[in-house]
Amino acid sequence: MRIDIITVLPQLLESPFDHSIIKRAKEKGLVEIHIHDLREYGKGNYRQVDDYNYGGDAGMVLMIEPVYNLINDLKREREYDQVIYMSPDGELLSQPMANRLSCLDNVIILCGHYKGIDHRIREHLVTMEISIGDYVLSGGELAAAVVCDSVVRLIPGAISDETSALSDSFQDNLLSPPVYTRPAEFNGWRVPEVLLSGNPKLISQWQEEKALERTRLLRPHLLDSSGK
Ligand code: ADE
Repeated sequence: MRIDIITVLPQLLESPFDHSIIKRAKEKGLVEIHIHDLREYGKGNYRQVDDYNYGGDAGMVLMIEPVYNLINDLKREREYDQVIYMSPDGELLSQPMANRLSCLDNVIILCGHYKGIDHRIREHLVTMEISIGDYVLSGGELAAAVVCDSVVRLIPGAISDETSALSDSFQDNLLSPPVYTRPAEFNGWRVPEVLLSGNPKLISQWQEEKALERTRLLRPHLLDSSGK
């Protein structure tokens, strides 16, 4: 998979992809992540990429021309499955969406900033808009990093034990059961006895029960939508 991220703040994306699972996925050649500084497509000495809001209030709007030129340059090299715009208006990121995105070959992610982006970009260049939640961030970069993290870990081979991504919370519309490690007792707080029993059947029964219990308590809508 190849992900091209367009941003006016490339520095914000310097670190998130250089650790842990994403770093290893890059090293294994499972994913390439390219960060493009939109300012390189800006005009004039100031490399202008934003301008005043026509007929609106103060606050700058990302211009169409640099975005159009950068996306066109990328499209000349390869075909893209999606051109994603990170926006609080977009479709809410979910596990099923991350699963679908992880099957794509090439995607562009455009990070917004300022007051927003010229609406013609959304009408003519963007094919999908994603929000990571109903709150407003200063820009799309952190949201793009969240999308990439949720997607890259699902690419087969990204996680050494493939089943571990499949057993993530949400994969079967259930939250994960609680997990514990040594010591079996700390401060008088004991690990549930069943987990020390060595009986795999009892353990998986307990895990299923706990997953259901936590989902019922914390995300009941997941159960409604799955018919559980
Ligand atoms: N840009 C600003 N806020 C955002 C959000 N909640 N999700 C995605 N992109 C954003």
